[in-house]
Amino acid sequence: MEIIFDLKGLRGAVSGWKNQGNSIALVPTMGNLHLGHLSLIEGAKDQADRTVVSIFVNPIQFGHGEDYELYPSTLEQDLDILRDANVDLVFAPNLDELYPAGIEADTRITVPDISDILCGEFRPGHFSGVATVVMKLLINVQPDYAFFGEKDYQQTLVIRRMVSDLLLPVKVLTLPIIREENGLAMSSRNSYLNESQKQLSSGIYKAIEKAATMLRTGADSFDGIEKSSVDWLEELGFKVEYFSIRRRQDLKLVNDGVDKSLIILVAAWIGDTRLIDNLQVDI
Ligand code: PAF
Repeated sequence: MEIIFDLKGLRGAVSGWKNQGNSIALVPTMGNLHLGHLSLIEGAKDQADRTVVSIFVNPIQFGHGEDYELYPSTLEQDLDILRDANVDLVFAPNLDELYPAGIEADTRITVPDISDILCGEFRPGHFSGVATVVMKLLINVQPDYAFFGEKDYQQTLVIRRMVSDLLLPVKVLTLPIIREENGLAMSSRNSYLNESQKQLSSGIYKAIEKAATMLRTGADSFDGIEKSSVDWLEELGFKVEYFSIRRRQDLKLVNDGVDKSLIILVAAWIGDTRLIDNLQVDI
């Protein structure tokens, strides 16, 4: 496994593979790898001849007062995991490599509409930060495929829209959420939770499963389901940012009786940790 820290080395390695006719899959990560990342890596290895994993905690997708400084950095442990997973190349640049002009003065990519709702409403600038760094990675790795996890469902739509609008020759592939035994969606941020918070956090999945059953059986209106789910989660001790039933293709509000492919999305705080989750539902 090659471990590369600079763009020059990265470009050299991928152009060598391209000259040999190899296809390339990229799995962008912020490190602190878990089974969710491993499922993306397995997907990438099945899809392409060569797999590149990037590890970079991207400061511009964190808001002021968010957890950028705290974000777990576990490079040695991550490299062991990636070696065991037979990844071909790990790209782990430092800040200057990806932001030579500094993070304030940097050019930003903004994907309209989809970036401003749900998580975008509570984390202004977040999706622009994600789109910008993913663009930098796509330009330099030039992968045939790029893999993203569906836990960050809104992020996958932002990236798909950017790729489509900017005519990037890459296929975006997404894979389902991997869950802990108690239903908690795997996330690097779960490492912030103590044991009792971890147990309590299964409530998020229980809430979306309950809401999904109500949706399928038509037990209540969309508003009614959202409201009772928020109440239930708040009773358990969560501070809910949103609990929302949306159209799956663009996260717009559901046209009752017309849209059938839906998704339930939730963002909620437990103590100082913000968790997100979602569940796709067909009605
Ligand atoms: O999903 C993530 O871990 C990040 O948002 C990503 C896509 C690696 C960009 O920093």
